[in-house]
Amino acid sequence: MKLMQLAGAVLALTLVTGAQAQQPIVIKFSHVVAEKTPKGQGALKFKELAEKLLPGKVQVQVFPSSQLFGDAKELEALLLGDVQIIAPSMSKFDRYTKKMQLFDLPFLFDDVAAIDRFQQSPPGRALLDSMTSKGIKGLGYWHNGMSQMSTNRPALRRPEDVKGLKFRIQPSDVLEAKARAVGINPQKMAFSEVYQALQTGVVDGQENSWSNIYSQKFHEVQKTIAVANSGVIDYMVITNAKWWDGLPADVRKGLQQAMDEATAYANKLANDFNEADRKRIAEAGKAKIQELSKDDIAVWRTAMAPVWKKFENDIGKDLIDAAFKANKK
Ligand code: LMR
Repeated sequence: MKLMQLAGAVLALTLVTGAQAQQPIVIKFSHVVAEKTPKGQGALKFKELAEKLLPGKVQVQVFPSSQLFGDAKELEALLLGDVQIIAPSMSKFDRYTKKMQLFDLPFLFDDVAAIDRFQQSPPGRALLDSMTSKGIKGLGYWHNGMSQMSTNRPALRRPEDVKGLKFRIQPSDVLEAKARAVGINPQKMAFSEVYQALQTGVVDGQENSWSNIYSQKFHEVQKTIAVANSGVIDYMVITNAKWWDGLPADVRKGLQQAMDEATAYANKLANDFNEADRKRIAEAGKAKIQELSKDDIAVWRTAMAPVWKKFENDIGKDLIDAAFKANKK
């Protein structure tokens, strides 16, 4: 009897150990936007592909809408190992590298195609490794769209229409300087707090992509959205470099493949998403969409131009030139 019990215990232990050895690696992917956005869909595609390419080896858990971590915490959480993949917008990295401030320079890129050309160029690819000394590794670039300004005022055409208004901005010193250049009073604020801040009048305006404006319902609490295209909402998908380097080689390879395919998928969707959401905002009829003339744009551009000089040394003139050149087809 005792021998039987011992044999049973050994068998149970073997089963447990075997099961443990086969436990999938849990990968938490946290982001701050809704699921029906380019980033939301990209994250779900990454989960689908990673679990298909590495069956039983990985389990990807996606947490949208700041459910797991919001803007303020997600980078720290990544470095602490509490989350494995995040995809912050380019405006959220200035504590880790000044180079990424490039993407916030006003009117740097004409459109998302130019951003893509720059990101695929050698200096663009090099930025993916610009934070490795801080423990952050870039896995790819995901697009959202050009950013548009909105306010709770009926007129929004020229800088005088935003003078003295309070705007929510992303936590970026370049965006702060850009706002101040046209007389805006900027407030850095996490994405998850913006709707309420707009609704209650804590701030008068904000700047974001059509997709974010629509999915967060900002257009329901704003009066005018100006088609300024003065900036970009774009992402770097990042991971904890130490965690990544410690993965079994086959898992790392499969995850990179899943990421590359999810990247292509999300980036193909991005423009369509923004165009469709712009139409939905127009149809909803809550906020007026204000087209700007070439002359209007020129006035914004000139007012914001000093921001380039201010950050040129931090970012590097060569990098700015390389990015600007990507506008030429
Ligand atoms: C914002 O904070 O406005 C955006 O960066 C949110 C996002 O991730 O698209």
